[in-house]
Amino acid sequence: MRLEGKVALITGGARGQGAAEAKLFAKEGAKIVITDILDEEGSKIEAEIAEHGGECLYIHHDVSNSRDWEDVVNKTVEHFGKIDILLNNAGIAVWGTNDDTSEEIWDSVMDINAKGVFLGTKYVVPEMKKNGGGSIINVSSISGIIGQPTIQPVYNASKGAVRIFTKSTAVQYGKYGIRANSIHPGGVDTDMIAHITGDELRQQRIKETVPLQRIANPIEIAYGALFLASDESSYMTGSEMVMDGGVTAS
Ligand SMILES: NC(=O)c1ccc[n+]([C@@H]2O[C@H](COP(=O)([O-])OP(=O)(O)OC[C@H]3O[C@@H](n4cnc5c(N)ncnc54)[C@H](O)[C@@H]3O)[C@@H](O)[C@H]2O)c1
Repeated sequence: MRLEGKVALITGGARGQGAAEAKLFAKEGAKIVITDILDEEGSKIEAEIAEHGGECLYIHHDVSNSRDWEDVVNKTVEHFGKIDILLNNAGIAVWGTNDDTSEEIWDSVMDINAKGVFLGTKYVVPEMKKNGGGSIINVSSISGIIGQPTIQPVYNASKGAVRIFTKSTAVQYGKYGIRANSIHPGGVDTDMIAHITGDELRQQRIKETVPLQRIANPIEIAYGALFLASDESSYMTGSEMVMDGGVTAS
């Protein structure tokens, strides 16, 4: 029970990594709020956690909308009394090159991936201050560290923003006992990249570019998030946890 007595708010928790993290955190004793725009999937995860004896609340939430954030924070505090852990996980990816990036695509990717993290921090930090501390985990990517040929650079820009925003958060709120760290996964087997992993040529490319020769299972990323959420990482803030099978080592 590594999160006994803690309350965790996880965005993008209806599927993929966020759902794996919600289930793992609940197993470790946390009370969970998952938010997403996918209501059917989110409600299923809520029910699954309850079936296994956990406490979970699903709330509809667009992370790029400040009114939604106010609502989510109010409902979480009404329901569970506090927020100890904020996992800013929701995100979207766009494939192609910079030539494919319209102004609208730029704005929507930055709104969800970067502004979403800003708003989450803005609305949750006051609650964490009241509690005497908390742990913020922001999901960046290896795309926040290196350039890549197949993804629109706006995705890299958004994840780079998350990486440095996390460090600023750590520096500004450390005195309140609030820690902030970023997670940098390489390829993870979720719906986000399903179209890439299905193809034989792409599988070959994964073998050539990933030292561990495979992409991650969401639970492998969830275990990293669990460490950052728990008091086991109590002296870690402003850091980057890279979980990429060795991609950025070469
Ligand atoms: N899958 C990968 O290879 C990979 C690698 C590195 C980083 N990431 C990052 O990990 C995070 C989780 O992605 P995933 O792999 O689980 O993919 P996913 O697509 O399965 O999950 C993303 C979730 O975010 C939700 N979401 C999208 N827009 C939203 C919005 N405006 N408001 C609220 N929720 C919204 C989606 O509905 C979905 O449930 C993302 O931030 C992603 O950028 C993914």
